[in-house]
Amino acid sequence: MKTIKNNIAIYQEGDSTKKTILFIHGFPYDHTMWNSQVDNFSSSFHCVTFDVRGLGESPAGDGQFTMESFVDDVEYIIDELQLVKPILCGLSMGGYISLRAVERFENKLGGLILCDTKPEADDNEGKLKRAASIKKINTLGVQEFVAGFVPNCFAENSIKELGKTYNAILEKSSASDPTGVKGCLLAMLGRNDTTGYLPKIKIPSLVLCGQNDKLTPPQSMKKLADKINNSDFVVIPGAGHMTPIENPDAVNAAMRNYFKKFFN
Ligand code: MLT
Repeated sequence: MKTIKNNIAIYQEGDSTKKTILFIHGFPYDHTMWNSQVDNFSSSFHCVTFDVRGLGESPAGDGQFTMESFVDDVEYIIDELQLVKPILCGLSMGGYISLRAVERFENKLGGLILCDTKPEADDNEGKLKRAASIKKINTLGVQEFVAGFVPNCFAENSIKELGKTYNAILEKSSASDPTGVKGCLLAMLGRNDTTGYLPKIKIPSLVLCGQNDKLTPPQSMKKLADKINNSDFVVIPGAGHMTPIENPDAVNAAMRNYFKKFFN
């Protein structure tokens, strides 16, 4: 079921009286990157996904986004849908949003799943890369930017194996509103470092990383997981940065195992 609230496209599957998993997708994608997880878990959970403002079906507006405004949107969804301590699950940019959400309102959350992400803010080199990406979009368009960015997110084998599905993802991202894509880049460029809060996280956490993730590799995600007291770390075989799409079976198995913590 899709609803638009506060200019955010929100999608709900499953019984809303059950425990909620609130999924936050990566950049420059949309809520459909969680399709396999929603298909798998909506019989036993209330699965909520949404399109981050400026991507998918959530309009870009003026594109003046910050990481704080993205976290405001998560809090808005929790309050508006009256979600009781949802398990927050974010990938990459969705992980940046999740980590800052935990820092701001851990009391409203029941659990945390971090996929292929990091707590560090952009360093100088990272900021210059974001600036170059914005320049590329301004001069050559979103399609050229996406053609350079998206292949890096997937393991080479996955691109071959996914075939048409990969092409469809590429095509969809290429059709994104440039204002929204640039707004997300600026929000990521300006985000805070959330490393300091990791040892304070109390909710049960699961950290997942693709074995062949080039953007947030397993060694760095292991360090992230080690800083969270109540956390499990699982490497997803054969996957790059887009674990839920590249190896959904392994991701779902890891999540299923983690979810047992909520039913003891
Ligand atoms: C993502 O997958 O969300 C992006 O790789 C995040 C980023 O560009 O930092």
